[in-house]
Amino acid sequence: MEPMIFYFSGTGNSRWVAQQIAALTGDTVQDITALKAPPALAGEQRVGLVFPIYAWGAPEPVRAFAKALRPGGAFTFGVCTCGSEAGLAMKKLPLPLDSCYSLVMPNNYIIGSEPDDPDTIRRKLRTAREEIARLAGEVLAGQKVYRVTEGAKAGLKSGPVHWGFEHFARTTRPFQVTDACNGCGRCAQHCPAGTITLTEGKPIWGKQCYQCRRCINECPQQAIQYGDATRNRKRYTIDPWLKELED
Ligand SMILES: Cc1cc2nc3c(=O)[nH]c(=O)nc-3n(C[C@H](O)[C@H](O)[C@H](O)COP(=O)(O)O)c2cc1C
Ligand code: SF4
Ligand code: SF4
Repeated sequence: MEPMIFYFSGTGNSRWVAQQIAALTGDTVQDITALKAPPALAGEQRVGLVFPIYAWGAPEPVRAFAKALRPGGAFTFGVCTCGSEAGLAMKKLPLPLDSCYSLVMPNNYIIGSEPDDPDTIRRKLRTAREEIARLAGEVLAGQKVYRVTEGAKAGLKSGPVHWGFEHFARTTRPFQVTDACNGCGRCAQHCPAGTITLTEGKPIWGKQCYQCRRCINECPQQAIQYGDATRNRKRYTIDPWLKELED
């Protein structure tokens, strides 16, 4: 089996990072939400895991995947993407990692603030691309590296604050759909938790939500709101920015 990079991504940052690393290392990429369980690994040279930071921790499906993964003797590396800081997320993953990295990427947490402005998005993507080239070289060489921007008060943020996020902030109750919805069904088809169903042409949210923010950021009609906070906010996904980056 070829070396593999597993990833989870809400709005495309971590998917792009996984693909960029794979293009340099010759690994294959696999979206973990398309798998029922981690595949049995037999004699892989290396295994990578790429994912976004949620409240200074790893998303629930990533933690579950990491716990179930049996990497054998493979060189293991993890890369998290975050708007600014990762806390102790990498140290708390239930998977021993030989190397850990964080990459600062555009912020998709539009519940808390506006997405980054265009110049900041461009700058973050260009800087991340340089860092990806550096880390891919280190991964290929099997170098053990810990290059993570933890930020201040990381123990507090990745401990009690992350616990609070997991227990109180993962509700779908504030999701609302406006009259701008045309019933295209994209939100239901793309929700990685499979929690959105279309009823009479309008999305209905179930309880299970990773808070990945894909539905609200990807809706082509900008018809999804999360309480009042997102009403006049812009949306963010990486895709419109990639063409420009490649030119
Ligand atoms: C629920 C949620 C919580 C977040 N918490 C953090 C955080 O604690 N620190 C941070 O720097 N960025 C945080 N972010 C920003 C994302 O980690 C960042 O934008 C990431 O690159 C998104 O990756 P994706 O496009 O692969 O989903 C958060 C985003 C979401 C949706
Ligand atoms: S993606 Fe937007 S427009 Fe399409 S069904 Fe969902 S809410 Fe409606
Ligand atoms: S409901 Fe929206 S935020 Fe929650 S998991 Fe699905 S796409 Fe992500």
